[in-house]
Amino acid sequence: MDIDLKGKVAIVTGGGRGIGREISRRLAGEGVSVVIAELQQPLVDDAAAEWRGQNWGGAQLQCDIRQTADCQRVVAEAVRQFGRVDILVNNAGVAGGAQVEKLSEAVWDDNIDTNLKGVFLMSQAVIPQMKAQQSGRIISASSFAAIVPSIGSAAYSASKIGVDSFTRVLAGELGPYGITVNCYAPGMVPTQMNHYAERTDDQKKVLLDTLTLRRWGEATDIANLVCFLSSEQASYITGTRIDISGGKFATQQPWSAYRSER
Ligand SMILES: NC(=O)c1ccc[n+]([C@@H]2O[C@H](COP(=O)([O-])OP(=O)(O)OC[C@H]3O[C@@H](n4cnc5c(N)ncnc54)[C@H](O)[C@@H]3O)[C@@H](O)[C@H]2O)c1
Repeated sequence: MDIDLKGKVAIVTGGGRGIGREISRRLAGEGVSVVIAELQQPLVDDAAAEWRGQNWGGAQLQCDIRQTADCQRVVAEAVRQFGRVDILVNNAGVAGGAQVEKLSEAVWDDNIDTNLKGVFLMSQAVIPQMKAQQSGRIISASSFAAIVPSIGSAAYSASKIGVDSFTRVLAGELGPYGITVNCYAPGMVPTQMNHYAERTDDQKKVLLDTLTLRRWGEATDIANLVCFLSSEQASYITGTRIDISGGKFATQQPWSAYRSER
């Protein structure tokens, strides 16, 4: 299957590092002009240097997706420089938590404002342009935490299940305009967000035991899915959440299939 994204224009929020950076690279490698919208200026500069080195098209903009004006500015700049917006990847996110009794209002707000309100604001900013084009793809990061939440993740899980519901509503509203809206739920992809490097071997094994494929996700796994969802071949997929977790809890004890006596 030939996924042809050449000449398309994408906005990737939180494209400065982690999964978002890999999604941005992958899209750029497919010939997409990628506008990275990133909170942290050093990451914006770092991405700009990579894009120059690779001679990729695109732009790198400092942006806080919690702010309406920033989201509007990013879309206006994408249209000014590249004439259209075909793909919005709502990747930016934060993951703070504590058990509810000790959860601070500030951490609650940060999760909801970034992970849910940010998806709303960026999507709202891009809708008029996509409607005018009569086409578009809005693809948002949910999380396995929206499927099975973990202890201490009330704020994060609530924000991500909100993304799922938002996705379905928006898909319904934008269906008549040829715009598809989907989200995806990664399991564990080792990044700075989930402090993978600080986990003990025992903690890692407990997590691996939940995975049907018994390996961590890679940012490229997510980037491959985003490329597919961005393509013409995915034009009949909308209003859904795709589980991209290596089959986490697909069965009750996936580890038992890996026992030597099987
Ligand atoms: N890594 C995983 O295992 C995993 C699992 C499930 C879901 N996810 C989701 O995937 C997405 C990316 O995760 P990651 O692990 O790459 O995280 P990360 O922390 O490595 O990267 C997140 C990026 O978003 C940026 N960002 C944060 N707040 C922002 C804001 N207000 N405006 C603009 N940019 C902002 C950060 O600066 C950073 O560059 C997140 O939405 C996350 O919830 C990740």
